[in-house]
Amino acid sequence: MRLNIVLKFFTLIVVSLCFLSACDNTRELRAEVIRIAHSHTRTHPVHLGALAFKEYIEEKLPNKYNIEIYPKENIGSNEKVLELVKQGSVQFLIVSSVNLESYDRSFALFSIPYLFVNEKAFESFITNPIIIKKLGVNVDKNGFIPLTAFFAGTRSFYSKTPIYKVDDLKGKKIRVQAGPFNIRIMQAFGAISIPMSFSDVYKALEQNLIDGAANNEFALVDEEHGKFAKYYSYDKHQMCPDMFIVCSKFMENLSKKDRRIFEKAAQKAQEVEIKAFHKGVHEAKTHALSLGVKFIDVNIDEFKEKVLPLHKEILYELPEIKDLYEEVLRFNKHELQKEQAQI
Ligand code: GCU
Repeated sequence: MRLNIVLKFFTLIVVSLCFLSACDNTRELRAEVIRIAHSHTRTHPVHLGALAFKEYIEEKLPNKYNIEIYPKENIGSNEKVLELVKQGSVQFLIVSSVNLESYDRSFALFSIPYLFVNEKAFESFITNPIIIKKLGVNVDKNGFIPLTAFFAGTRSFYSKTPIYKVDDLKGKKIRVQAGPFNIRIMQAFGAISIPMSFSDVYKALEQNLIDGAANNEFALVDEEHGKFAKYYSYDKHQMCPDMFIVCSKFMENLSKKDRRIFEKAAQKAQEVEIKAFHKGVHEAKTHALSLGVKFIDVNIDEFKEKVLPLHKEILYELPEIKDLYEEVLRFNKHELQKEQAQI
């Protein structure tokens, strides 16, 4: 009799535990799958930023969202995934501002060569929430919202043969991100622009379809472009952020509470990415040196001179970016004043 009671009690506990665990599993099954895509490796600052985003949301809203991160253009090139974000089958994408230009001309601001006086001005600009809001004014039309921006350093040329002066660019086939102003910039430098997606650059270098490209130092090692391009010249002609964008319908359908958590998560992601970028860029340079890449300091003024007239031309063609451009000038002035005060 006593044994019977003990057995029944034991069975009840086992059944209850199974039931609780089944509930838990269904809850997990019911968690909404959210996809984030980007074009970098799993060790790149962009991926670390995306991980921080995932961790924050899954911690604050347990079992509600299951965030999947797709690195290395695994689900398609940035250009293709942008369409999926607009439709809502991929909710988030981390993509260069240049790729957004054809959807929203405001992002062409960042293509303007030698726009920021230094990386500090660039960083304060892209970490300012008011600026991000201004960049998102065309939400309805675009179908995506810029949530935040990631720091992507400064773009300089790297090539198979050295570039010491502007003339060395003459006739060189340089891969650019597909954006109308990049083609004009290359023309002004005397180079031939070859637009292609980021994931195709490795093969294009390997097969001699291009002589070089432009990017920050990470591309030399993370993408292994340094295997073929052994000369990196610090002409520092562009600073384009990676925009963390979200499908606007997805964001609009979130509850107020969840929306706040997603926004906070994006802020955390930005902090993590920027920190990792500053730390990683030195490591990338050291690694590239060990691959035999030579870093060249050039006379930046000579390069600037060639493309500065584009400021006026671009502003004339895109009057809608005038306000943002003037904001940049304010940020530049502020940074220069800070620098002067430190001297
Ligand atoms: C940078 C940027 C990427 C971009 C790439 C490119 O690495 O972080 O988002 O795709 O440049 O040149 O295409």
